[in-house]
Amino acid sequence: MDEFTNYNMPRIGDTAPDFEANTTQGMIKFSEYNKGSWVILFSHPADFTPVCTTEMSAFAVNEEKFGEMDAKLMGLSIDSIHSHIAWVNNVRKNMGILMKFPIIADIDMKVAKLYGMLQPGESETAAVRAVFFIDPKRKIRLIMYYPLNVGRNMDEIFRALEALQVTDKHGVACPLNWRAGEKVIVPPPKTVEAMEEREKSDYEMIDFYLAKKSL
Ligand code: BEZ
Repeated sequence: MDEFTNYNMPRIGDTAPDFEANTTQGMIKFSEYNKGSWVILFSHPADFTPVCTTEMSAFAVNEEKFGEMDAKLMGLSIDSIHSHIAWVNNVRKNMGILMKFPIIADIDMKVAKLYGMLQPGESETAAVRAVFFIDPKRKIRLIMYYPLNVGRNMDEIFRALEALQVTDKHGVACPLNWRAGEKVIVPPPKTVEAMEEREKSDYEMIDFYLAKKSL
């Protein structure tokens, strides 16, 4: 067991580990920040790097849209607070985009290790590109991990968040490539009677176990 394997990788369904960290918006206790809303917690490998700049500026541009979906943003990298502030300022000057969301200065790698963002086969010193979708009850609902040299997809992050919220609200499931407004999957019937009822429904049905409806 080395310093990288001596911690648990968080999993879907786990309570998101709590922490207190220094961020570009001051000290934040995660459980307080998470209270009553979703949090999209994401890491990037390093400040002042090209792919990270495209990603982090896109998060900033979309922060209001995340807010409309009841989701707050929080970034992280293993850089100092001074580096973060200099980069935020650089992106503001070069692109006219201000990263208002907090970015954790995780120089001791405490939070990165807590969330399995340090994956030594990829890098021992930089966090991979992780995205944690954490619900208002602090439960981890979806995790994405991308390597250092492949940027994430903002549309997919929105799609996944929307799908999580729709499935929670309506007790349904979302099929392959589902997009907001499209039909959703109705959970399969649990009794023969329910199966027979379903045959009389107006659901779009491939078979009794694969039925779709509009919301
Ligand atoms: C980038 O953001 O461009 C980057 C960061 C670390 C390694 C490779 C690429």
